[in-house]
Amino acid sequence: MGTSWTSQKPVPDVDLTQKTVIVTGANTGIGYETAKTLAQLGAKVIVACRSEAKANEAMERMKMEHSEEKADDKKSKVEIKANDLDVEFMTLDLSSIASTMSFVEEFKAKGLPLHILVCNAGMAYGGEVKTADGFELHFQVNYLSHFLLTLHLLPVLKASRGNAKIILVSSMAYRGAGWHEDNMQSINKGQLSKYGSTKLYQIMEMFTLAEKLDGFGIGVFSLHPGFVDTDIVKRENQQVSGSMKFFVGMLNSMGAMQIQFFA
Ligand SMILES: NC(=O)c1ccc[n+]([C@@H]2O[C@H](COP(=O)([O-])OP(=O)(O)OC[C@H]3O[C@@H](n4cnc5c(N)ncnc54)[C@H](OP(=O)(O)O)[C@@H]3O)[C@@H](O)[C@H]2O)c1
Repeated sequence: MGTSWTSQKPVPDVDLTQKTVIVTGANTGIGYETAKTLAQLGAKVIVACRSEAKANEAMERMKMEHSEEKADDKKSKVEIKANDLDVEFMTLDLSSIASTMSFVEEFKAKGLPLHILVCNAGMAYGGEVKTADGFELHFQVNYLSHFLLTLHLLPVLKASRGNAKIILVSSMAYRGAGWHEDNMQSINKGQLSKYGSTKLYQIMEMFTLAEKLDGFGIGVFSLHPGFVDTDIVKRENQQVSGSMKFFVGMLNSMGAMQIQFFA
């Protein structure tokens, strides 16, 4: 199955009023656009980020762009449903199990329903780092903590009684991943292999969860967003090659961002 994100308004007449959505890593890049767009479609969006300052700045920008797009609908990518954007910051540092579990508890304490969980946050070139919890950094941020988050939020998703969605933002880099049965965290493997493994695990998670949740009214999806010129290859102190930066920039300049679903 597949769909394209073009410069035309691509989203059919979707109304997410009364829906609650969590987007991880919503302060920049793909997460930012996702959070803004879902909020424009009427959803209440939880902007789940590790930095409150960055999240606040992002939410201000979303609101400013929303006002401009409302005033001139040629600028918007969707049929706008929201008058004002309902976006709210909550702290989530996926490199920490304690932070991930605090997020879960705080979200549950709000008593909000949950209709869509977008596991978007991710990192690719973080070097060889172990977290305070003892896991390889990419493994914990991209895969493990999102898995924990998803499992603990399942009761809330189930309570939304049908049509809930779990979206796992993966990458076609999974194709370059090695399957190291005795080294699941890809320690001492190359950066792209390490990153690719985490994206492979997300796809495996998608198949397993979709099977186990059959009949609960929860769809599980995983996708490759296309090559998008975001911060992912531009962060300081990252081990990313110049050729990779050039490759992403070149592909991005070639045209529309494409969204492809794996299943
Ligand atoms: N861009 C592409 O071409 C591409 C291709 C395939 C797949 N993807 C996937 O798309 C997703 C979004 O990537 P992007 O390109 O939008 O990258 P990005 O611009 O670098 O954004 C990544 C987001 O993840 C957040 N994040 C990183 N570490 C985190 C942590 N420990 N806890 C919580 N949040 C954390 C970042 O927060 P900070 O700003 O605070 O660091 C940021 O909000 C990722 O899963 C990536 O693997 C991207």
